[in-house]
Amino acid sequence: MSSKLTLLARKNVQELTPYQSARRIGGTGDVWLNANEAPDCGHYSLDCSRLNRYPEFQPESVIKGYAAYAGVKPEQVITTRGADEAIELLIRTFCEPGVDSILINPPTYGMYEVSAETCGVNIIKQDLDANFDPDYDAITAQLESVNIVFLCAPNNPTGNVLNTDRLTDLLNAAKGKAIIVCDEAYIEFCPAASQVSLLQDFDNLVILRTLSKAFALASIRCGFALASETVIGLLSKVIPPYPVPEPVAQIASQALTESGIQVMTARVEQLNGMRSAFIDELNQLQGVEKVFPATGNFVLVQFIDSQKVFSLLGKQGIVLRDFSSKARLENCIRITLGSVTEMHSTLVALKSVLS
Ligand SMILES: Cc1ncc(COP(=O)(O)O)c(C=O)c1O
Repeated sequence: MSSKLTLLARKNVQELTPYQSARRIGGTGDVWLNANEAPDCGHYSLDCSRLNRYPEFQPESVIKGYAAYAGVKPEQVITTRGADEAIELLIRTFCEPGVDSILINPPTYGMYEVSAETCGVNIIKQDLDANFDPDYDAITAQLESVNIVFLCAPNNPTGNVLNTDRLTDLLNAAKGKAIIVCDEAYIEFCPAASQVSLLQDFDNLVILRTLSKAFALASIRCGFALASETVIGLLSKVIPPYPVPEPVAQIASQALTESGIQVMTARVEQLNGMRSAFIDELNQLQGVEKVFPATGNFVLVQFIDSQKVFSLLGKQGIVLRDFSSKARLENCIRITLGSVTEMHSTLVALKSVLS
């Protein structure tokens, strides 16, 4: 019976491997450093007096708050259920299933591929170059065959950021051909690397953002696409009618006030300070082969024997993200920057495992 039902699903859904999110993979322990979440949680108030009403389509306080924070016009902002929804929305808006393609640059964030597969859209893979930067020439050469190029910076998991001159050339070459998406989910941890100012010159650029990382609000599922008014207009046609639950809008607009942004900035400063200290310690450990350039709230580490590290830390209740099965990331583990106590426990555990 159930196999007959399965056959009713679209063929690409039958064959789909869902995204292996940290929550789906699971784990046991009390130090959770596997989902690039913030270690602390803010305080918010909720007004429940209008929960009987449908929420605004695009809550004005959130849109205006994010536009002011990002330095763009409110007309250039759409808010979505996490940046993940924006990824799928872009594919559904700009790609014809079974006909069109997106281009991704592995190793990178997995949801571009899963969303394209879900929508029945082809995926062209152009590997990151030897330094794990986008191969701009190779991408440019394929612009005739793709509708969207997904770039991720800071790249999850390798931490690389984009070269603005090379990106500008790519945007010029892509005019009238393709949308270039820069996923800036972690940009608060290295704000100088943001490409948001290029939105003034390029109507084919889309910047993805989220409140899940530096703003410490992964649970509310609130993300943004920043783009030209034309692109925002097209995305607004495809997005569901009430994409932002009222409690989410209330919390997001509090996070985007001046004081909310100050709290976020202080968190980023603390995590970035911790990141440098953690990397210094990692570099002194025997058994660490390479520490990738870290620009987000995570560090990708190549060990001599990652399986041993992953399982022994797991046994101590420290849950990390294993990337060792991904091409070019053999023996690599991604470690999210947690609280001071969590990072201390992690270092102590690493030292004992690797000594
Ligand atoms: C690069 C990147 N983009 C987007 C997302 C999704 O973010 P959100 O929680 O806003 O859906 C993530 C989540 O880990 C990510 O790493």
